[in-house]
Amino acid sequence: MARLYVEKGISMSMISRRDLIYMGVGLTASSLLARSAWGRTAALLAGTPQAGSAEALATVAPREQLLLDFGWKFQFGHGTDPARDLGFGMGQGDFAKTGDFAFSKAKFDDSKWRALDLPHDWAVELPFVRDEEQNSHGYKPLGRRYPETSVGWYRREFEIGASDLGRRITVEFDGAFRSVLVFVNGCFIGRSDNGYAPFRFDLTDFLSYGAKNYITMRVDASFGDGWFYEGAGIYRHVWLTKTDALHLGKWDSTVRASVDGDSATLKLDTVVENQGKQAESAKVTWKIQDAAGKTVATAEGPAQSIAEGGSTAFTATASLANPALWSVDEPNLYSAIVTVETDGKTRDAERISFGVRTAKFDAEKGFFLNGKPLKIQGTCNHQDHAGVGAALPDRLQWFRLGVLREMGGNAVRTSHNMPTPEWVDACDRMGMMMMCETRQMSSNPEGLAQLEAMVKRYRNSPSIILWSIGNEEGQMQSAMAEQGAKVGSTMVQRCHELDPTRVVSAAVNGDNKKGVSDAFDVIGFNYNLKFPDEYHKKNPTRPVYGSETSSAISTRGEYATNPLRNTVNAYDSVVPWGETAEEWWTFYGTREWMAGGFAWTGFDYRGEPTPYGWPSINSQFGIVDMCGFPKDTFYYYKAWWGKEPSLHLFPHWNFEGREGDEIPVWVYSNLEEVELLVNGKSLGKKKVPHLGHVEWKAKYEPGAIEARGFKGGKVALTEKRETTGPGVAIRLSADRTEINADGEDVAIVKVEVVDKEGRAVPTANNFIGFKVSGAGKLIGVGNGDPNCQESDKESKRSLFNGLAQVILQSTKRAGEIRIEAAKEGWDGAELMPAKLTITTKEAELRPEA
Ligand code: GAL
Repeated sequence: MARLYVEKGISMSMISRRDLIYMGVGLTASSLLARSAWGRTAALLAGTPQAGSAEALATVAPREQLLLDFGWKFQFGHGTDPARDLGFGMGQGDFAKTGDFAFSKAKFDDSKWRALDLPHDWAVELPFVRDEEQNSHGYKPLGRRYPETSVGWYRREFEIGASDLGRRITVEFDGAFRSVLVFVNGCFIGRSDNGYAPFRFDLTDFLSYGAKNYITMRVDASFGDGWFYEGAGIYRHVWLTKTDALHLGKWDSTVRASVDGDSATLKLDTVVENQGKQAESAKVTWKIQDAAGKTVATAEGPAQSIAEGGSTAFTATASLANPALWSVDEPNLYSAIVTVETDGKTRDAERISFGVRTAKFDAEKGFFLNGKPLKIQGTCNHQDHAGVGAALPDRLQWFRLGVLREMGGNAVRTSHNMPTPEWVDACDRMGMMMMCETRQMSSNPEGLAQLEAMVKRYRNSPSIILWSIGNEEGQMQSAMAEQGAKVGSTMVQRCHELDPTRVVSAAVNGDNKKGVSDAFDVIGFNYNLKFPDEYHKKNPTRPVYGSETSSAISTRGEYATNPLRNTVNAYDSVVPWGETAEEWWTFYGTREWMAGGFAWTGFDYRGEPTPYGWPSINSQFGIVDMCGFPKDTFYYYKAWWGKEPSLHLFPHWNFEGREGDEIPVWVYSNLEEVELLVNGKSLGKKKVPHLGHVEWKAKYEPGAIEARGFKGGKVALTEKRETTGPGVAIRLSADRTEINADGEDVAIVKVEVVDKEGRAVPTANNFIGFKVSGAGKLIGVGNGDPNCQESDKESKRSLFNGLAQVILQSTKRAGEIRIEAAKEGWDGAELMPAKLTITTKEAELRPEA
């Protein structure tokens, strides 16, 4: 197993790990075992259902939830020069009077601004800059030293009908990066100052009814919230919500299920707010529906009065006989339609999706879902993807979760921020558990507001088993333990108030002996395997899990570690502070009292390029690359996390020029024994160690290697790697060949090069151009190469070790998207071009503003 060693005399406490990376400590060729190999790419999950948006699904008449994603205008502003920032801040008086902001009025000329749709991330469109200060952001020019590319203006016109007069109209942002100022019809409306929490403003007083209205946002990414790629712009959905003046409070409706034998009791709560001009007497009813839409229970509370400008809490209970429990294998969901009525008239309603399940962390026996022990087989993930940066179409969330499930994952941690609603929704619907983490660990108003938004927004989601109030906060963990203990206790208490059904934790990279940890219900350890055993011994009543583990690194399809090429071999290498996949899972997976853990990371992510800096622009921690193409370690997890027999042989067998060299050959399998054959000759059978792998050294000669996996003495699975011929043709395939014509859905296209026998060439690095026509467009490309600085947005991309990805998005017109792929430029080889057609079928469009 390869391991990077920290130089003698430098202890981890003296210097941060990130500094080590930047200094390049330990990154010599000899400090990593330089070996080479190849692994096959798995067929990624196809056919996961199209995601409805979580927000849109919640809408029930008479409430209207209108998507405000389409038809925006965009232009860069300027972080320091008001003349290039629409004159904003030129003098003193921008905020002096209400209604003076010309850029959000009808007359303002935005005809030269760029037209675009949301979600939008302008950071991914920017060129890379060689500036070490920018490496956590993936070498993108964002921040105060890049005023020209750090401020963006968005503007849009929208109509409000005359009949809307009297309703409450709110603009709702699921999240934006960062520091957003919102203006409507000349008036300043409000601001939001973080990159992840949702925010909303009531526009009712500022709108023109029966007329056009103008909204403008100034988005300023000059500051950051993290140390990883965060994107820039309005990268999540925006909504316009219209309700009656008498309406349900935002995220106030909760359904809390307690299971007792064969039935469940549902505690139903909500709050009704009265923004009308008179007191009202209202009744709230709940209709509980199963997944098929059949009403299985109803409830209502007594009518109550709600004072003008006041709010009143309503509560009721319902019971469910033989509830279909939510679990990772059967993610059964219910919904509660909550309705507010006065004199038999429905004034407001919403749909709350929930699940019935029990989740328990036990200090001696680990984690239990529905009373059954279940190890958390989790990964931590940031939110960006190849081609699109932080602005993911909803469908991509499903695609990404599908990849993680395919390797046997049953949980994700939303490191290190509040996730987008569609990621949580996809977890609820696909059966992935979630550790949901807020960005700012603080009990200051901003920290508590972020925490509150997260818990209120997602507390009905059955996937969430754990709230996390933060990650690796040195001062809170130990340096000022007393301060940490107080901050921790305030935050944990707030979580408990808002959600008495869930436990609270954080990801701690220390011994959890003091500071913030005092307050936790469950203790999370980041790395450092020496701490958990000792902690468990001394604190036998406190449940423990791995909040962040591993940080193993590899470059997909590379079998040699080469600091000159910024590559890391696929044989389970790791950074100094981490553990290989095998090490951490052997530790966490074998202790009964341990609840399991979350490996860093499922997907590679932009920024924090580790273990190398420039020209690397993304991390290499992923078990899959930026596109979701599996690295070989994926199959370690598939073997030991998955339920099916599995066998994976690597490397590839294309080592032209290395004839006679000894090549390490590894197999990940959960079968009993594996035999390796090189060109038909057996190198012997080996017993597969529990939670381990088997390996041989094989002399390279062209031909084939074959692994035969045995169970009960019989061959159960075999896998072959053949030396391919040169690439002769391009091959295109898509995760789905039929998608919705809704302007949002995407097809994820895999690009390969094959030899004359149709075998994918694992070393192909050809540069391919794409022509897309018909009812769709190309919205991004990628290839999973951490060192590739080609544009994510152009219609061309080189393959990286045999693979590239193109993301195609439908328009709202049903038809066909045609993609043609042909080699760009001349590199001495001919490749037959390829074509693929994606059908886009008519689909119900989400209501738009
Ligand atoms: C952890 C941190 C992560 C990431 C990781 C890299 O300390 O929580 O955000 O930086 O290290 O190994």
